[in-house]
Order: sequence, then structure tokens, then C-alpha cells
Amino acid sequence: MVQNKNVVLGITGGIAAYKACDIVSDLKKLNANVDVIMTKAATEFITPLTLQSISQNKVAVDMFQTLGNWEIGHISLAKKADLLVIAPATADIIGKLANGIADDLLSTTVMATKAPVLIAPAMNSNMYTNSIVQANIEKLKNNGFWFITPEIGRLACGDIGEGKLASVETIVNQITKLLTRAKDFSGRKILITAGPTQEAIDPVRFISNRSSGKMGYALAEAAVERGADVTLISGPVALTRPNGLDSFIPVESAIEMRQAVMDCFQEMEIIIMTAAVGDFKPKRKSAEKIKKNDSGLTIELEKTPDILAELGKLKGDRILVGFAAETQNLLEYAGEKLVQKNLDFIVANDLTQEGAGFGVSTNIVKIIDCSGNVEEFPLMSKLELGKIILDRIKGLLI
Ligand SMILES: Cc1cc2nc3c(=O)[nH]c(=O)nc-3n(C[C@H](O)[C@H](O)[C@H](O)COP(=O)(O)O)c2cc1C
Repeated sequence: MVQNKNVVLGITGGIAAYKACDIVSDLKKLNANVDVIMTKAATEFITPLTLQSISQNKVAVDMFQTLGNWEIGHISLAKKADLLVIAPATADIIGKLANGIADDLLSTTVMATKAPVLIAPAMNSNMYTNSIVQANIEKLKNNGFWFITPEIGRLACGDIGEGKLASVETIVNQITKLLTRAKDFSGRKILITAGPTQEAIDPVRFISNRSSGKMGYALAEAAVERGADVTLISGPVALTRPNGLDSFIPVESAIEMRQAVMDCFQEMEIIIMTAAVGDFKPKRKSAEKIKKNDSGLTIELEKTPDILAELGKLKGDRILVGFAAETQNLLEYAGEKLVQKNLDFIVANDLTQEGAGFGVSTNIVKIIDCSGNVEEFPLMSKLELGKIILDRIKGLLI
């Protein structure tokens, strides 16, 4: 529970500032301790007195006003926080944080904290979709900041679009989730690969496969939830990047994926290879778009690097987990792969079963370990499966 946890809530200058009262009130009902920091602009929308009354704590606005005896506001609140939340967050505060600007109490406190930071943006939809604001959000996400995507709806300015502050319920749920995470993977470095690879035929065409990346992204989400430092290397997918990653490396081809894996695997303790790396690539990539003709086209393919086999040789004491997706002889092929690639266990899914494998958000799998034990699982969400895979990995950790 969030009882006695310290939440520092930053409120910035937007119309949705009044909704912060409900966030504080809900957190107080859950018995959390809430310290509020308001920007000067926020005080134009709602008074510190209101927040002070609801939070039952002194509200901090001015960086140069001390909170108590010898307390330096931004440092004491930065240290005290189990979680720092900014709701609503203006384009301005997002821009400042993304660029290392610390010129008021809130931005300075965020810069000084080691606690996770959760940001709930709220602004006019043109502001929210502005490429500079989006680039700032991306940058912060890449630096481990958590975001709650705003809703689409009627905005205070009368426009309808994306930018409405997420509901108080969503924000409080996310706060609760972050504060109550089981941290059994805290400090563990996990590398996860996800998605398909694309092997170029010419500048506009490629060979790929039906992997959606959902399994790898779900695993990354589950691992972050449990406190792991997650590096996600992803082929091209249409998924939202999970919050809280240590590092995100987008790649296209099998060769790029191999390079990205080799660049970082040394520092990893656990490696989970969910990516569906293409087995073959065109031997030659045409520099120009290949023109249509009447005689057809033959493309010569060659093998791509076998990343899993290479890692199997180099793994040392690392835990290495692979996936097998087959349409026939599942257990036999998966078992062979487990041995050949020197894996700790393999997650095998039968692509012929409805609800399993590529594209869908669910999976039906069997986990085979080094001793040949086979554990069968029923249909479940990829997120649930991700948690089970982490539990199995935990059993292998010393
Ligand atoms: C009536 C009014 C409403 C505003 N609403 C928003 C908003 O919802 N989101 C936003 O990013 N900026 C909004 N602004 C602009 C911010 O208040 C302005 O960028 C300010 O400098 C933000 O300061 P802060 O980030 O320190 O709180 C609004 C301004 C006014 C006058």
C-alpha cells in the first residue's frame, strides 16, 4: 500500500491545475504523505492555501524560502520523495526538464531527486503534438521519466483533441502502481530484444515477418515494474515504448540488431531474445528501386548472423532465454534450439493455435528447461506471461 509513502506533487500553470486538488485528496485518503510544490504560474490558477489545506503540509513555491530549520527546499523534498509526480505538467516544465534547466523550485527538485518521476502532461492539442514538445517527451522517456498519456477530449480552450489531463483515477492508479512495485529485480540489468527485422531488397522494399513485438514489449514492461534496468532493442513495430526503460535502441536489420546486442550484452546479467530475427536477407541490396518488368524477379538470399547462437557461446554466467515459434514439431524443434544455443530455458509457442504467437496480445506457451522439464501454460496475456518468465528467471538467479 501507499500508506506513509512520500509523494511530492508538482503543479504547473495550466487550467487543469484545479484537478490536482482531487489527486492530493485521493492520495491522502490512501494515507500517503503529500508535499506540494507549485510553480509561480500554477498559483495564478489555484491558491497554495487550498493545496495546503488538502495536503495538510506547507506548500512550497519559492526556491529561496526555507521550509523549516536549515532545510533547503529543493534538496530536502528531492531526498524525501518516494515518487515525484508533476500533474498537470505544462509544455514549459517538460521543455525545461528535457534541457536540464533548473530555474525554479520544481525544476530544481526534479533535477536533484533520485526518485522516479511521473509526468502527466496537459495542454492544448496543437501544443501537445508540436514536434518540439514531442521530442522533449521522447528525450525524457529515454532518461527514465514515466509519462501518463493525456486523453483526447474537449479542452479548456474549446478545441477537441489530444492534451486533456488523464483522469484523476488513472493518475492515482499509476502513482499507486509505482509506489507498490515489487522490486525483486532491482538493479538487475536485463537486455530484451523485440519485434521483427527488415532486410532491404531495395530502398523501398524489404523482407520481414509477422512479429508485432508485443511479447518483448510486455516483458520489458513487466521487468521495469519489478525494478530492473531494462535495455530494449527493437525492430520496427507499431507499439508505444514502455515507460521507465534504461535504454531503447531501435534497429531495422538483423545485422543492426546483432551489432546493438553485441555492443551491450557484456554488461547484462539477463538476456531475453524475443525478437523474430530474419533468418535470410537478400544477398545484394539494389541501390535504386527495382523497376517492374515482364520477366519476373529472382532474389538470391543469404543467411543472416545467428545472434542467439553467438550469445550462447559468449554467455558465461549470464542467463540466456530464447523463444521458439513453430508451426510443427514444436517440442522437438524448441528442445533442439535450447541445446544448440546453450539457453537456460526456451519459451515455445505453437503458431497454429488461436491466441498464440505473432500479432495477438495473448500467448499459449510451453517452457522447456535445461533438464528437459516441460511446463505447459494456458492462454494468457503476454504481460502475464512476461511475469511468469521473470519468475522462472528469478529461480535461476544466485
Ligand atoms: C489561461 C491559461 C491557461 C494555460 N494553460 C496551459 C496548459 O494547459 N498547458 C500548458 O502547457 N500551458 C498553459 N498555459 C501557459 C503556461 O501557463 C505558461 O507556459 C507558463 O509559463 C507555465 O509556467 P510553469 O511551467 O512554470 O508552470 C496557460 C496559460 C494561460 C494564461
